[in-house]
Amino acid sequence: MVKKVRKSKDSSFKPFHYKSLSQLEREIEKLHLNIPISKDISILKKKKRFKNIFIPNRLAIQPMEGFDAKQDGSPSILTNKRYQRYANSGVALIWFEATAFVREGRSNPHQLMITEKNLEDFRKLVQKTRNLCNRTLQELGFNNKCLLILQINHSGRYSKKEEEAHPIKAFNYKPLEIKKEKSKIKGKIISDEELQEIENQWIDSIFLAKEAGFDGADIKSCHGYLINELLSAHRREGSKYGGPKLRDRAKLLLNIISKSVERMDDKSDFFLTTRISVYNGIPFPYGFGVEKSSGEEFPAPVNLDEPKKLISLLYKKGIRLINISAGNPHHKPYITRPYDTPVKGGEKPAEHPLISLNRIYTLTEEIKSSQPDDMIIIGSALSYLRQYSGYIAAGLINKKIVDICGFGRMAFANPQFPKQLFTEGVINKKKTCISCSKCSELMKEGKETGCVIRNPLYKQNNS
Ligand SMILES: Cc1cc2nc3c(=O)[nH]c(=O)nc-3n(C[C@H](O)[C@H](O)[C@H](O)COP(=O)(O)O)c2cc1C
Repeated sequence: MVKKVRKSKDSSFKPFHYKSLSQLEREIEKLHLNIPISKDISILKKKKRFKNIFIPNRLAIQPMEGFDAKQDGSPSILTNKRYQRYANSGVALIWFEATAFVREGRSNPHQLMITEKNLEDFRKLVQKTRNLCNRTLQELGFNNKCLLILQINHSGRYSKKEEEAHPIKAFNYKPLEIKKEKSKIKGKIISDEELQEIENQWIDSIFLAKEAGFDGADIKSCHGYLINELLSAHRREGSKYGGPKLRDRAKLLLNIISKSVERMDDKSDFFLTTRISVYNGIPFPYGFGVEKSSGEEFPAPVNLDEPKKLISLLYKKGIRLINISAGNPHHKPYITRPYDTPVKGGEKPAEHPLISLNRIYTLTEEIKSSQPDDMIIIGSALSYLRQYSGYIAAGLINKKIVDICGFGRMAFANPQFPKQLFTEGVINKKKTCISCSKCSELMKEGKETGCVIRNPLYKQNNS
């Protein structure tokens, strides 16, 4: 069970100030946290069996929306360049960013969107990424091939129509409502009939991802978007997609998986997966992975009974790889991506960032220990640890908390981090993410996202 860290004056916010790994180690000890450090990082180079193949090493790039697609959703030159940077990194697995499949479910007019019309552009992106990724892996001495996964998403509450917020919600809950001063936000609670239609469109998009050449598709279930919000829809009265039963709240996800598996060619190696927020900290009855008797307090106490039950159901349906995340970054971003500086106008984290990291790793550990060994678990939220993150990645894998470590913001700031780890044994301190939230700020402003600190391409977006 996930233990609550006792509140003390030490547990309040403190920015990153660790001049050495041992200083970081001392802070972890002082706070009584479960953040394992392994100075021997050789485990990161070890392959990992996944079904009938091997994943070449233990590093992955997490999905990071670039919002640089063309109006029709196809990848632009900038999108292609971003994936070339990732492909040239040495990671074993690239998890392509949240990609829409219907206009109404887009969170930004420049979000990627896969359709029959632009399939060829996705095919070219996949091919180019795969070629370079495999070549880089080979140059680094890895014998197995890379994996490319497309994250498919409906933005739900965070959807936009003609650049204006147009929330498509599973239920009403005031703390999640988007604030806007002048005009009233339009939007709606989605009906069961509309969810049924989305189910079919989502399945079609999975087959488009397969045709485009991806190895797998992620039915995104994290960060407060449509499927993730439905998991918390305890108070969706009179709906087949909500109420007290987990199977009803998870119906959209489960139906998409079952029906896609039925439609899949038996001989195909194409696989399904999901990135899931196993806990969002929102008090019951609006939260997921929380205690029922949690009161109004945020973050609500953890109870992973339902997430574990859901992941066991996914295992029964043949899912053998999942990506664990937590929180809804539109609501309380420090749960998902611990940081030192908030976005403009945002809140300072309510706790020490190491406590936020400890929470997500401990949640992941509980999930991992509840699953059979052949369920591959990808862990999240390492970038905050900067030049030390390789040691924590190795620690998490050695302690069997995760199988593979995914990096998000670090891939924006320093896409060469895997090569640095594999060839120099450490991530270059001068190139790391500094958790300044500028990339999230660009996202909030509807601009192309990237690292304004380390990549000159994005500096002008920050003016
Ligand atoms: C600008 C930005 C875009 C993101 N886009 C996605 C996305 O498309 N899909 C997703 O699941 N998570 C997304 N995330 C969350 C990251 O994948 C990751 O979970 C988070 O940043 C914590 O990991 P890190 O500490 O390695 O950055 C995004 C985060 C940021 C800051």
